[in-house]
Amino acid sequence: MQKIVVEGGATLNGEVRISGAKNAVLPILCATLLADEPVEITNVPRLHDVATTVKLLSELGAGISTDEHYSITVDPRSVHSQVASYELVKTMRASVLVLGPLLAKYGHAEVSLPGGCAIGSRPVDLHIKGLQSLGADITVENGYIKARAKRLKGARHVFEIVSVGATENVLMAAALAEGRSVLENAAMEPEIVDLAECLIAMGAQIEGAGTNRIIVHGVERLHGGTHAVVPDRIETGTFLVAAAMTGGRITTTHARPDTLDAVVDKLKEAGAELDCDGDRITLDMHGRRPRAVNVTTAPHPAFPTDMQAQFMAMNCIADGVAVMNETIFENRFMHVNELMRLGADIRVDGHTAVVRGVQQLGGAPVMATDLRASASLILAGLVAQGETTIDRIYHLDRGYENIEAKLGGLGANIRRIR
Ligand code: UD1
Repeated sequence: MQKIVVEGGATLNGEVRISGAKNAVLPILCATLLADEPVEITNVPRLHDVATTVKLLSELGAGISTDEHYSITVDPRSVHSQVASYELVKTMRASVLVLGPLLAKYGHAEVSLPGGCAIGSRPVDLHIKGLQSLGADITVENGYIKARAKRLKGARHVFEIVSVGATENVLMAAALAEGRSVLENAAMEPEIVDLAECLIAMGAQIEGAGTNRIIVHGVERLHGGTHAVVPDRIETGTFLVAAAMTGGRITTTHARPDTLDAVVDKLKEAGAELDCDGDRITLDMHGRRPRAVNVTTAPHPAFPTDMQAQFMAMNCIADGVAVMNETIFENRFMHVNELMRLGADIRVDGHTAVVRGVQQLGGAPVMATDLRASASLILAGLVAQGETTIDRIYHLDRGYENIEAKLGGLGANIRRIR
């Protein structure tokens, strides 16, 4: 099994190019199923989750072509199956995002329940309730969500809690529903805005994406189009935290600073100097040790849960004590035990972790438990004395494009071993 080995102590310096956002490209690839013509997606990150989604789309019958820049064109005209199997859905929860598009386009869909997930129970009830509001008849049988509807009908739907995935599934379905839909308490993440922009490029009529009230005027059909995926704000944030922890100075290029307000504010609080200029973000730590920062995760525009583990790594070596509250997922502190193997001082009580910064971490073998947890272990390894070996890095390849090459380009001593 592949591992990543990090030799701590290097100060990061230089420029790093940000890839397209994982959490935007996955729903966008699913949205292509709604079209009557080919849709081209550019700025696609080379990630394992993208490959899994492409595999799912081709199993449904879609034609897929990829060019040398990894732009992906999906031709949905050859789709002949409306069933997303357990084999694929179990490996990637985002596969459930084909449910809304298949149902809206073909009037029926069967999608496996995603099943357990390392970071909490993560049910799909909100997706189901939203589609039911649009008139779908849905049952859950033998581990599959079975949905039917002659043609979905626009309706007002209030999400009980803010959910990124449920908002996306219902938004995609509403695009082809008859009449007007109003989605209240919708998620406001930049990835929702990006999905809406792609749907609009395909002919959808959508207002209010990026606010908590999205209005969709359903259309009879969606045509082809081209869309460039928004830059990945979590990848951007991960590199910025890495630079801050090592006392370095880096610039992220091809980024979207306006999607990172909460993260940028927290990095400033930690003592970093930040400068945003167009699509570039420069962080300069001037060799200083970061100050501990309290963090409470919450839906956008508040602090993202996908940056919690990386900030915890920073707090492990920061000056002071930080209180970190995780309000989105019930079991998202699995990196704590691994960080403690590197010498971190962390106490967890329910949804709260108290992190007491130590002067120095020490390298050790550790195990990645989920995607962002893996990133936090690499960051900790960058500042730990000696060698840190991270096992189970397949999690990392699901969501970070070539992280060791990008960090290596900034001066980190990092390599992958097979
Ligand atoms: C997406 C992101 C993930 C991010 C998360 C929160 C993708 C592919 N993944 O996941 O990286 O961490 O948003 O920003 O975009 N919930 C229910 N019932 C449902 C759906 C969700 O109870 O039907 C709960 C979840 O358990 C969680 C909360 O709602 O506690 C928010 O989850 P949600 O926003 O849906 O996350 P995902 O869309 O799965």
